[in-house]
Amino acid sequence: MAVRAFEGKDHAAAYWQFRVTPQELIKNLSLKRFQTPKQFSLALDVGCGSGQGTKLLAPYFTKVVGTDISPAQLEMASANSNPPNVSYRQCPAEELPFASGEVDLVTAMTAAHWFDRPRFLQEADRVLRPGGCMALLSYTLDMELEYRDISKALTDVCKEVF
Ligand SMILES: C[S@@+](CC[C@H](N)C(=O)[O-])C[C@H]1O[C@@H](n2cnc3c(N)ncnc32)[C@H](O)[C@@H]1O
Repeated sequence: MAVRAFEGKDHAAAYWQFRVTPQELIKNLSLKRFQTPKQFSLALDVGCGSGQGTKLLAPYFTKVVGTDISPAQLEMASANSNPPNVSYRQCPAEELPFASGEVDLVTAMTAAHWFDRPRFLQEADRVLRPGGCMALLSYTLDMELEYRDISKALTDVCKEVF
């Protein structure tokens, strides 16, 4: 069951004002995987909140879509200035309205711990192209990744990177 803890407009406004932007992490991830600007077509930032992290992906992709379940967060994300290749869509992380194999990068920035992770991971796997990349950014280790028979390996990779 998905958690709906970020729904209020006040919460979204506070998020926009005080959220720490993961600039170094995105730069690092992007430089390692996506070296040529706009080399790849589509990045999804799932659970994008007010969009601070979403926008950081813009230089590296033709199109970046931030998705979130909260209309208030998306309103805040859209209300602030965005690069022209960034847009936002409301949807649950567990049901991404994208075709199978059309996405190059799926990120979830301090958000995946709120998702129904087995369903989200299944969706991420479906929408990612072969060789695509999923990056879960988080400041908590209080999370298990459950997916098919690789749950322990996925969780161990997260812990090692952390
Ligand atoms: C801690 S905030 C992080 C926001 C943003 N990624 C950032 O780093 O600033 C978590 C976000 O996940 C969204 N969220 C939680 N559960 C969700 C779900 N099941 N599907 C989509 N979004 C969800 C919330 O609405 C919220 O905006």
